[in-house]
Amino acid sequence: MKIPSNHILVIFGASGDLTNRKLVPAVFDLFEQNLVPDNFAILGLGRTQMSDADFRIKMKEGIQEFASKHNHDSTADDIDAFVQKLYYYAFNTKEESEYAGFKQRLLSLDAKLNTGNNFIFYLATPPSMYTVIPCNLAKEGLADEENGFKRLIVEKPFGYDLETAKSLNKDLLKNFQEDQIYRIDHYLGKETVQNLLVTRFSNGIFEPLWNRNYVSHVEITSSESIGVGNRGGYYEGSGALRDMVQNHLLLLAGLVGMEPPAVITSNGIRNEIAKVMQSLRPIKEEEVENYVIRGQYVDSTIKGVATKGYREEQGVNPESRTETYVAMKFFIDNMRWADVPFYIRTGKMLPTRVTEVVIHFKPSPHRLFADKSGMQHNHNQLVIRIQPDEGLLMKFGMKTPGAGFNSQTVNMDFHYSDLADAYLPSAYERLLHDCMLGDSTLYSRGDVVEAAWEFVKPIQEAWKKNNNIPVHGYPAGTWGPDVADDLIEDKRQTWRYPCKNLANDGNYCEL
Ligand SMILES: NC(=O)c1ccc[n+]([C@@H]2O[C@H](COP(=O)([O-])OP(=O)(O)OC[C@H]3O[C@@H](n4cnc5c(N)ncnc54)[C@H](OP(=O)(O)O)[C@@H]3O)[C@@H](O)[C@H]2O)c1
Repeated sequence: MKIPSNHILVIFGASGDLTNRKLVPAVFDLFEQNLVPDNFAILGLGRTQMSDADFRIKMKEGIQEFASKHNHDSTADDIDAFVQKLYYYAFNTKEESEYAGFKQRLLSLDAKLNTGNNFIFYLATPPSMYTVIPCNLAKEGLADEENGFKRLIVEKPFGYDLETAKSLNKDLLKNFQEDQIYRIDHYLGKETVQNLLVTRFSNGIFEPLWNRNYVSHVEITSSESIGVGNRGGYYEGSGALRDMVQNHLLLLAGLVGMEPPAVITSNGIRNEIAKVMQSLRPIKEEEVENYVIRGQYVDSTIKGVATKGYREEQGVNPESRTETYVAMKFFIDNMRWADVPFYIRTGKMLPTRVTEVVIHFKPSPHRLFADKSGMQHNHNQLVIRIQPDEGLLMKFGMKTPGAGFNSQTVNMDFHYSDLADAYLPSAYERLLHDCMLGDSTLYSRGDVVEAAWEFVKPIQEAWKKNNNIPVHGYPAGTWGPDVADDLIEDKRQTWRYPCKNLANDGNYCEL
């Protein structure tokens, strides 16, 4: 693993939740693996007044609670050594006049630590700041790469719809070049998401089958077992389509559907994902109801405990039509995937937290044993589990021992956790390290983001304009509205249910 060049990581929004829970613990985990350079610092920024010492104490608590390495093999001395690399400067990033003071602090730190004018600027502020900060950095000459690299990491969301995404990209590109911009989607940082590429492209047994000749359909599920909690106010302006489908689920579909890149380079991979996005068959506004189901959780009883419906949550409009669940069917119109349905679903308050991709293979062409035993076709599935319990599961039919030719489905199951010495880096750890090395492969490119927004635009429009499109209620603890089953074209098939409904039978089974 390479060690990045000396640099300073500047975090805008360092007094916030993301910095404390994810960013600084992830950098500490890199430090523990000797993956940060000798000359390195984090300069945290926010309006909250804090000294360097206050910031260090706060971040130390975050590391103790959230860093993976802390739980394993780091010592108190390691943490103390690491936090000496943390600095803080208070200023209001909306105020142009305050940037000169910040620049002075940054450059004096750079001179003191000999970090070569290399800076990564991480935008972990509210999105309303994503335009103003890069603009002021550029005015101060801090986007200029003549002397040292200048990289900009932008947190999601990348816009709220096609227009705002385009406008954000346009504004960013006024001040930074595309290859300086790192749009972070933590899904791409997950080990198993990257493993999708390795599984597909390095195994002679999968790649030949990975097309319309052998695959009947593809299913992608990302479920959460919790509701919106105290983030109802935020979620009201977002919803599952924006929060999950436009970015994470379409990206996963892109990785499942893409052609092998000629070379494993940042643009090699991202070009292929872009082509998938361009091949998505548009869903017309008037057809949205036939392809997309939206739902909202209603009150329920889970394991004997009463749970609130979405509309009763704090900060939520009692007549809200914001979707907490989306299921949809779409097609990728290209040679590989013509007429193969892709089904994706995501929701809150579902029976379990899981993200998985399921490749459903076509049955064998002739039912050789059907007459003898009444045996049905086996529907072979490859399940790529992204979280939790990362791994691969292959389901296929075997003969049931004994007389006749009855079959049963059996599993070949691989869990990453079985690799006893495997350390799975957190997504932020992986992505921050990549950015430090100047590798943007696992970051979203502007055109891919826009293409995904373009695809969801008719859905957003139809929901905005047509109140007759229902928002289906589903009891918390179930797998969402029953009508989602109607999306599945082959009536012998259903969605894969990794565990039973909680609300109906209270019978929870792990994956
Ligand atoms: N939390 C997560 O797990 C998560 C996950 C994915 C994406 N994100 C994205 O990451 C971003 C940050 O999330 P968060 O949860 O950390 O939010 P947060 O806790 O509300 O923190 C926001 C930060 O922005 C700073 N800030 C706001 N206005 C400012 C101003 N005018 N000048 C200087 N600093 C200002 C705040 O500092 P002061 O109050 O001290 O000024 C604070 O440090 C958001 O865009 C969010 O969408 C977060």
